[in-house]
Amino acid sequence: MTSTTSAPSGFEIRRIESRDYAGVVTALSGLTTVGDLTQSQFDEIVAYWDTLLLPGRDDGARCFNTSVIIESQSGRVAAVGTVLVEKKLIHAGGLVGHIEDIAVNPEYRGKQLGKVLINHLSALGSALGCYKVILDCDEKNVGFYEKCGYTRAGVEMQVRIAQ
Ligand code: ACO
Repeated sequence: MTSTTSAPSGFEIRRIESRDYAGVVTALSGLTTVGDLTQSQFDEIVAYWDTLLLPGRDDGARCFNTSVIIESQSGRVAAVGTVLVEKKLIHAGGLVGHIEDIAVNPEYRGKQLGKVLINHLSALGSALGCYKVILDCDEKNVGFYEKCGYTRAGVEMQVRIAQ
């Protein structure tokens, strides 16, 4: 099951595939440490995500929805991001979308692609039946998410298990 908001001219948005390995690793390296992720590990993880179907559905809707924005002419990965759909006990078994690991390749930043990606993932969460979509981010990115229609809600906390 897919749902998209339209990509700007010269770009397309689609679900992540094996051939996106190098471009996705490059984009995510601008967000955090990716580590020594091999092509086969990448393929294994993407295949694993594909097995996680939302319960109680017969339309192939998935829990993990990672999208890439591709530059049509070059086939290069411009941006990547995920909406992870969680089925909860509260809200009568309702669904919450979690936006994770958003990264625009440095050379494609400032072209509205981040905003297009967030709009796409939010619309995908909505199409999958989420009653809300949430995310955690650094203070420095609050302005970006506000431009995407998100508002401050709550406080992120963590216990660090490993560096
Ligand atoms: N603070 C305030 N406003 C911003 C910021 C920011 N950090 N970044 C972009 N904007 C504004 C832009 O000026 C633009 O404003 P406009 O619509 O008035 O012109 C609007 O937000 C949309 O900007 P885009 O061009 O869509 O942003 P871009 O494609 O450059 O992507 C992103 C922004 C994703 C933050 C990018 O800089 C990036 O990949 N950074 C490194 C990785 C990162 O920090 N990812 C977010 C992690 S949080 C998470 O994953 C849930």
